[in-house]
Amino acid sequence: MRVICVAGARPNYMKVKPVMDALEERGAQVILVHTGQHYDPAMSDVFFADLCIRRPDYFLGAGSGTHAVQTCRVMTAFEPLAAELAPDVVVVVGDVNSTLACALVTAKLGAPLAHVEAGLRSRDRSMPEEINRLVTDRVSDYLFAPSADAVANLRAEGYGQEQIHLVGNVMVDTLLANASRAAAGGTLARLGLRPGQYGLVTVHRPANVDDPAVLGALLPALAEISRSCPLVLPAHPRAAGRLHSAGLPAGVRIIPPAGYLDFIALEASARLVLTDSGGVQEETTVLGVPCLTLRDSTERPITLTEGTNQLVGRDPDRIVKAALEVLAAPPPRPGNPALWDGQAGQRIAAALVAGHDARSQRVASLPERRSGSATSRSSTHRSPAVGLLPESIEETLR
Ligand code: UD1
Ligand code: UDP
Repeated sequence: MRVICVAGARPNYMKVKPVMDALEERGAQVILVHTGQHYDPAMSDVFFADLCIRRPDYFLGAGSGTHAVQTCRVMTAFEPLAAELAPDVVVVVGDVNSTLACALVTAKLGAPLAHVEAGLRSRDRSMPEEINRLVTDRVSDYLFAPSADAVANLRAEGYGQEQIHLVGNVMVDTLLANASRAAAGGTLARLGLRPGQYGLVTVHRPANVDDPAVLGALLPALAEISRSCPLVLPAHPRAAGRLHSAGLPAGVRIIPPAGYLDFIALEASARLVLTDSGGVQEETTVLGVPCLTLRDSTERPITLTEGTNQLVGRDPDRIVKAALEVLAAPPPRPGNPALWDGQAGQRIAAALVAGHDARSQRVASLPERRSGSATSRSSTHRSPAVGLLPESIEETLR
């Protein structure tokens, strides 16, 4: 079985790694395509080193641009490659522009498409990622959902049971696999930090960093919080320039974007995290670190109901109040959502192999054997063979 796995931006690498490993364990030929959406060493290379991901087989070099330009560059580069490689399945992860671009190309070429992290919905279409999620799910054959709420969203949108697989969270696979390596890396000592005595901040959503008025209101809130708990802010390139020019308060220390192991170490020992990231909401839940999400909505509501996350929006007074309450309370216990157990990649690989085997059998039993070429979408590939919905969860959803 030949599988193309696509990665393009920072939050993709940790999601694709466990899927690649589990597929390779099952004897699949995995071809890793890096779209080049992120390209700085701190946004790309460091993750390959930290996570021991082998060099990509193909690098598309898409780079930065408007949404249309970036999506179009990835599509234009990916289309001939995918046609030539004729994969048995293409795996895309998450919700970035590279995910959408490769999903559209794959659907039109006719190869089966698997979306890892399907069904997440913020219901805020001003977020580019929400558009990417909706469209990617719509053209996908396999919908690999991380949580029961994602399954419920997919069902409400009319997807067939046979397409939906509740598999758990690949981000958590990678977190659990690397937590002790991260803890042993000496990150805190290098930065002169002590466990539990600092807060960690990340901001990169356009809604928070592109509008100087919004960012300008956020910074005094961070200044106020930093009087009780000094803050460390690894700055995403989208935000770095604006943060510097806005002038950071004294208690907020800006550092370059952190590598994965450094970031996990910082997250695990933080007294609190303030963020607009998607993945960080999940990691803090599993690590048992309080997380204040600087947004009005989340596509990951399970981190609110079963984790350590709170939505605090963008109002400075509300943010400060929530932070001071968190600092005054004992640290929470780690959240433990169903199937966030380090085995999501294995479940995904098992479903893909089972689906491929079933398709092969169907094709072999046809009177006249058809070509397996990815450029001729056959009506036999649309329904993966098995749905992986454990009965307990099935019960809850009824
Ligand atoms: C992208 C994703 C977002 C994800 C984030 C994770 C989309 C629509 N957005 O946002 O969902 O949360 O990645 O980090 O896909 N830049 C660099 N070096 C790099 C990459 C980017 O300097 O290696 C700068 C460029 O100025 C670029 C800007 O960052 O214009 C934004 O990059 P882009 O990939 O377009 O979006 P992100 O904000 O990173
Ligand atoms: N991350 C990192 N270094 C940083 C910030 C985040 O390694 O400086 C990791 C974080 O641990 C998580 C992922 O990047 O695994 C989240 O990516 P990001 O916040 O860029 O994107 P999002 O999840 O919001 O799409």
